[in-house]
Amino acid sequence: MPEAQICRASGAPLTVVLDLGQQPLGNGFRAPDDTSAEYTYWLRCGFSEVSSLFQLIEQPDPAVMFHDAYAFRSSTSAGMRAHFQAHAERIIDERLGDRTDPFVVELGCNDGIWLRHFADRGIRHAGIEPTGEPAEAARAAGVDVVQEFFTADLGTRLRAEHGPAAVIYAANVMCHIPDIRGVADGIAALLDDDGLLVFEDPYLGDVIRLGSYDQIYDEHVFLFSALSVQAIFADAGLELIDLEPLVTHGGSMRYTLGRHGRHAPRPAVAQILEQERLQGLDRTDTYLSFAQRVRASATALLEALQRARAAGHTVAAYGATSKSTTIYAYAGITSEHIDVILDNTPNKIGLVSPGAHIPVVDEAEFQTRRPGVTFLSAWNHQREIVQRHAWYAAQGGVWLTHVPEVHEL
Ligand code: TMP
Repeated sequence: MPEAQICRASGAPLTVVLDLGQQPLGNGFRAPDDTSAEYTYWLRCGFSEVSSLFQLIEQPDPAVMFHDAYAFRSSTSAGMRAHFQAHAERIIDERLGDRTDPFVVELGCNDGIWLRHFADRGIRHAGIEPTGEPAEAARAAGVDVVQEFFTADLGTRLRAEHGPAAVIYAANVMCHIPDIRGVADGIAALLDDDGLLVFEDPYLGDVIRLGSYDQIYDEHVFLFSALSVQAIFADAGLELIDLEPLVTHGGSMRYTLGRHGRHAPRPAVAQILEQERLQGLDRTDTYLSFAQRVRASATALLEALQRARAAGHTVAAYGATSKSTTIYAYAGITSEHIDVILDNTPNKIGLVSPGAHIPVVDEAEFQTRRPGVTFLSAWNHQREIVQRHAWYAAQGGVWLTHVPEVHEL
């Protein structure tokens, strides 16, 4: 089990800033009759002021998390499908328009939610996806898949086989890869001289602002800021040329980088770097006070669920998310507090949640079960879910969220 008391980017010593205790795998949904011992690890976060990089101290082996039956599917949300289509079309129009036969690479293409738009237009591409079932889904969508983890070596091999990449893209993947220096080297080897690296991940600035500590789980070995991305990629000769805050995943940032000196950075880069310094994202004490807010949030949520029970309500959660695993394990929430988790992912329905062992049922059961209180565990899809189920609040159902603090919607 890889453990880092030193920063994975800079090699500097880490200060432990947050301890979320023993946790099961965030995506470790399992059969209700599975009595085998559950894998757990110690979820602690470290910070280094050298790189400004917020990271897990201990992370389960990637092969344990990203296996062939990996349950997460990008395309379960209509909002995410629209988000990736709009971005793919923008890249094609703005970045590929004047290029002859460009080559586009996506790291962690999952079920092809982004890359299928390139495949549809006959653009040369490669989707790097180590997990079997998502890779199969991407192939079915017409995407050319390389079923491996991305490494420095694979970057070099892809360039030898296909030539340099005009665009390398990754969505909610870069923050999953512990060997971030190896990835930076692979990207530097693969990227065309005037090519672009574009990636988006949950944004540390939003996690601190919103108290969304559920963004912290085994798969997210890093939560990036612009300050840390700048530091990580500098050694590979890449610099930030654009930054775009996004609403996806409850607050993300899209980072665009190019080879040093090849592009004029947009004004957003200097602006957001300054804003991050003002927010204290480069200071250890910011994370120590965040840890205190996290403890208070977990206690308040447990108490709200206990009050719902005491009032005689049935209680559900909406969204069998990896994120909520962190909350349930840290706050001590179990099937005593939440009866069922509603979800629309076919391969999660019928399983129980990691650690807490709360049954996952088809979201279609929301109407028939009519829980008195529903914890919006997929809070990052709040608009989509609450609007679609407007009947619920209209009939007196209560939505509960923990973001930015525990309250009823
Ligand atoms: P995510 O927060 O990692 O995107 O996961 C969201 C989970 O919520 C995923 O398991 C799918 C589920 N979901 C629903 O069940 N219904 C919905 O309407 C949406 C948007 C998501």
